[in-house]
Amino acid sequence: MTVDTLTHPPAVDALLGAPPRSSGATPYPSAIRPRRLRRTAALRRMVRETELTPADFIYPIFVQHGRDVRQAIASMPGQYRYSVDRLPALARQVWELGVPAVIFFGIPAQKDPVGLENFADDGIVQQAVRAVKDAVPELVVITDVCLCEYTDHGHCGLLDPAGNILNDETLDILARVAVSHARAGADVVAPSGMMDGMVAAIRAALDGEGFSRVAIMSYAVKYASGYYGPFREAAEGAPRFGDRSSHQMDPANVREALREAALDVAEGADFLMVKPALAYLDVIARVHERFPQLPLAAYNVSGEYAMLKAAAANGWLDERRVVLETLTGIKRAGADIILTYHALEAAAWLNE
Ligand code: PBG
Ligand code: ZN
Repeated sequence: MTVDTLTHPPAVDALLGAPPRSSGATPYPSAIRPRRLRRTAALRRMVRETELTPADFIYPIFVQHGRDVRQAIASMPGQYRYSVDRLPALARQVWELGVPAVIFFGIPAQKDPVGLENFADDGIVQQAVRAVKDAVPELVVITDVCLCEYTDHGHCGLLDPAGNILNDETLDILARVAVSHARAGADVVAPSGMMDGMVAAIRAALDGEGFSRVAIMSYAVKYASGYYGPFREAAEGAPRFGDRSSHQMDPANVREALREAALDVAEGADFLMVKPALAYLDVIARVHERFPQLPLAAYNVSGEYAMLKAAAANGWLDERRVVLETLTGIKRAGADIILTYHALEAAAWLNE
């Protein structure tokens, strides 16, 4: 009787129209049943391998000139461009939710071939850093270091007359930007331009100016991705001509990702980053395995955010479920830290 109910549920035989069997071979090795550990919520919690917490997140913030500005970004529902006076309240909200860090992207008042506001004492990011460090000194303030939001041509480097990026000349600008952000009070600078040698150049400049305490989070492995579309609208950083495939990586490559990461480790990066996240979970896993000594960040980029927001707005997906599932997946793949526009909503859900 006991054997029969375990191995041949009579109900199944009946459904299949099979003649009832009184005994016979075991159809499944019943000693091994993974479902035992999924039976109750407490058991599932006990054996959970990946725990997502608000401390895993970095919240990206767009900042622009003006007063009392909170301008909605159409392609990123729920995200805004803020003026500096709005930042202290936002920073307090971020901190109170348990999110330890923000990263700033600036929209300058004017653009020019070099991007002069990028390293101006009263540049938009410099003002933002000071405002937030005054309001919430404990909050980790990270700044994106690149040229594309500041240059009139929208490229990530200085250009020669033919429109080619001048890699080594650009390094001098990146170093000046990083030092300027450090002087304003940034805890971490995050070079995102994929220029060769950018980490070494920034490390040397920071140390030379007395900012050896400032860390570098390198966008070490950044792909030439269509998923940056909404960001480029938000930050007005699209190239006026051409694209970024002479410096950002080919989406087809992963061995090259390990090479890029190795270089940035050697140049003194304190964190590595893989960007975007979702189409590159294998890259996250590979970089995590190869360089376990450095914290690894993954950038859950604007297009990834926009996809879930759009599907949720249409009622096609359960937003809370898929956001937490997505972020858990990025962490499970090997990311220690996730830059995500979902940070505040996800933190609030996790805190419930
Ligand atoms: C460049 C930069 C970009 C992003 C972050 N830093 C855009 C680009 O490289 O074209 C994209 C972030 C996102 O899509 O969320 N400063
Ligand atoms: Zn750039």
